[in-house]
Amino acid sequence: MKNLVFLGAPGAGKGTQAKRISEKYDIPHISTGDILRANIKEGTELGKLAKSYIDKGALVPDEVIIKVMQARLAEDDCKKGYLLDGFPRTIEQAKALDNITTVTLAVNIVVDDDAVVRRIAGRRMCVCGESYHISTHPSDVCDKCGAKLYQRDDDKEETVKSRLDVYAKQTAPLIEYYSDKGVLVDVDGMQDVAEVTKEIIKVIDGNC
Ligand code: AP5
Repeated sequence: MKNLVFLGAPGAGKGTQAKRISEKYDIPHISTGDILRANIKEGTELGKLAKSYIDKGALVPDEVIIKVMQARLAEDDCKKGYLLDGFPRTIEQAKALDNITTVTLAVNIVVDDDAVVRRIAGRRMCVCGESYHISTHPSDVCDKCGAKLYQRDDDKEETVKSRLDVYAKQTAPLIEYYSDKGVLVDVDGMQDVAEVTKEIIKVIDGNC
């Protein structure tokens, strides 16, 4: 069963790889960041609450996220497996996930600190969900839908520092958590996007 969790620092490439891997194995790509951003755009109560945390680079409270994920993982498409990107992000979230389902593999995308900062600073987003980097895509127009690209508010320098601190304190302990369960595999995220994808596929095919 492909019940997958992607771990990695902000900007490590989780979203980029999750899109490719979920298509390959036909499992839903569930990104808590995307869910929260969609709620912010729609102006829901969840979105209003989430924005106040995201803008500071802080985590949305566990009880809020856990409720969202309990509902999402109960949907039919998750019966064939799933790929979680950005969840769990704390030990408490990981324990809540264990109460819902069994994670079969946690893929930890490992990237140097300098690269993380470069990747976040150069990321540009499209309203259609595509994400680019200015070094490989200097145009400010989306290849897929033609819309103008923009920078995520929380990708600005002052917020990125808080996000990296939060990752080190609250999310990095999950590496040990999943390692202790015997389901953690590190992948070298410093390679080209296609090479990282190849390595992740090898790891999944060898473990699930
Ligand atoms: P979220 O959206 O999850 O952000 P994140 O974890 O900080 O991750 P990112 O989306 O920044 O990076 P990524 O690893 O997906 O990298 P990407 O593939 O885009 O969360 C945002 C906020 O929401 C949080 O701060 C928090 O407030 C809240 N939140 C979300 N989930 C939560 C939860 N569970 N609990 C509480 N709060 C939560 O790549 C980055 C860039 O690098 C792109 O430009 C890409 O093109 C480029 N790139 C990717 N791979 C490569 C490569 N191999 N080589 C060169 N460039 C590459």
